This record gives sequence, structure tokens and C-alpha cells, in this order.
Amino acid sequence: MDLMHYEAKQPFTQQHLLTLQDWSEDDILQCLSLALKLKAMQKAGQKQTCLGGKTLAMIFAKSSTRTRVSFEVGATQLGGTALFLSTSDIQLGRGEPISDTAQVLSRMVDGIMIRTFKQSDLEALAKYGSIPIINGLTDEFHPCQVLADLMTIYEKKGTLKGLKLAFVGDGNNMAHSLMIGCSKLGIDVAIASPDGYKPKPAYTAWAVANAEAHGSKVTVCTDPLEACRDADVLYTDVWASMGQEGEAAKRMQDFAGYQINAQALAVAKPDAIFLHCLPAHRGEEVTAEVIDGPHSVIFDEAENRLHAQKAVMSLLMGGGKA
Ligand code: CP
Ligand code: NVA
Repeated sequence: MDLMHYEAKQPFTQQHLLTLQDWSEDDILQCLSLALKLKAMQKAGQKQTCLGGKTLAMIFAKSSTRTRVSFEVGATQLGGTALFLSTSDIQLGRGEPISDTAQVLSRMVDGIMIRTFKQSDLEALAKYGSIPIINGLTDEFHPCQVLADLMTIYEKKGTLKGLKLAFVGDGNNMAHSLMIGCSKLGIDVAIASPDGYKPKPAYTAWAVANAEAHGSKVTVCTDPLEACRDADVLYTDVWASMGQEGEAAKRMQDFAGYQINAQALAVAKPDAIFLHCLPAHRGEEVTAEVIDGPHSVIFDEAENRLHAQKAVMSLLMGGGKA
């Protein structure tokens, strides 16, 4: 598959990125294709202007390095501007209704990226606002990260369909979005999580149905080595996500053994790659040996946040142009 020259089956008509479940395979492939093109253009020093005169508001109720920097730098590279709005500074954090915030921002900016807790807050922005809303991470999903992950997998493997991705750890926002994104593109997904931390059954059901429609498989098990067996991609994430700091000590015990390490790598394909959304805790969900070793592509993956997020902004706010 030559994704750089992917021919769209339908015009791109999505208004928002709330979850990848809303996007079709064709929508996702168009986005990845544009991300690859924008990356090549940026490396070649070619000017991009699709957000000329436009502004993205970035609302953050949680910390961020990659998401904030990729959207802010990406908007600038596309000729636009990004505004960093921490909920500890704006009136939303003092109780101003999300519906009012949505309507006010819709009068002044051209799109909103929000990182927050509840998916329903994101949905409320989309309902009351009249501009594109982008999910920069909620407790449920992290679709922007998965677009960068799929782009990285494609760059390293030259294909997507038919691969197997294993995710070991918490059935969290990353597990949900990986299951959904991969299953839409025909990538097999195997998740290994301890009991009590499995992905939410409703999202697993979406992914299983997607996989059936795209000729792939989604499985959820308890044994990390079973999940990692013959995998092309090994993935993990922190045991305690943002907002779960109070559970960190209990989670350290509950997740013991749910680590990507030399044993996990040994049962995967010999040319398996290791991905992590970052930030990572070496010695917890992944050993230093693996994350800093030859199979790891975490910094290419982090860089691709920039190119993938530019593609999202271009499609939703810039007419899908460069
Ligand atoms: N992976 C990711 O979203 O990183 P940040 O939390 O630094 O944005
Ligand atoms: N699951 C993590 C992802 C961080 C990018 C969190 O929500 O904190």
C-alpha cells in the first residue's frame, strides 16, 4: 500500500474528532496520507498555509508536553495561531458552563482542541459550539495519539492491514483508542490486562465489530505473553493515568508482571517495534532495556504527533490542504 498517494474513496466530511469510532477507514487513511505528505513537505522546507489567519483554542484540564507542543507548533507551521488555555486560568475552571464557553469561543476562534476528563464535556462543546472540536485526550480516548501511532507503524512496516499489535497494561484511554483505530484498518489487536482493569466492554464491542467488518481480530486476555506472541507492534502505557495519582500505589501492585520486557520481546516477531505514547516510567510498564533498545521507535512516534496533528487541523479547519 502506498499511503502517501492514497486516493480518497469519499470526500472528507467529518466535522470533529471526538473518537476514531466516528471516522471511517477512508477518513483515517486520508488523514494518515496527508500527515505523511505534510511531513515530507516540512522536511523539504516547503511552506504550508492552509490555516492562514485561523486560530485554534487549546483547552487543557490536564498536563501535556507532546499534545500542546504538536498542536501549537503545527498550527504555526500551517500559517495559523494556537492559544493555550489552562482550565486553571479560564472561567471554565470556575464553573462557567461548557455550553457558554463553546458558544463564546465559536465567535472568536476556528477550532477547539480540548484535553479533559469527561468525554461528555467534549460532546457538549461539539453540541453547543459551531466549530470543529478535537479530542486532545479524555479519560476514555486519545485519538490524536493513535493517528501518530498508525503513521509510525506504517513508516516502519510499510503496511498496516494484517499486522498484529499487542497492548499490555491498563485498559485505559490508549487501549480503547488503539483497539478502535487498529480494528478499523484491519490490524489485529491483543490486549492483556489484569482483572478489574480490562478495557470497557462497550468499547471492546465496537472494536470487535470493526474488526469483523475489516477482516481482523480483537482479543482481550489476562496473560501478557499470550498477547505479545507473534506481534509486530508492542505497546504499553502508564499504570496510573492522569487523574489516578491517588491509586498509584495499589496499581503498582495490581499491574506487577504487566510489563514490556525482554520476555515479551522474545515471543514477539523478531522485527517487532516498541511504541509508547509517553510519558513513560522505566522499570514499571516497560524496562529501560526495551524502551531505550533497538526495537523502540518512541521518538519517531513522538515526532509524528506533530505531523498527524497538522493533518487533523488541516482536514477539520483548513480544507484538507497543505
Ligand atoms: N502522549 C501524549 O499525549 O503526551 P502529552 O501528555 O505530553 O501530551
Ligand atoms: N493514559 C495516559 C496517557 C497519557 C498520554 C493518561 O491518560 O494519563
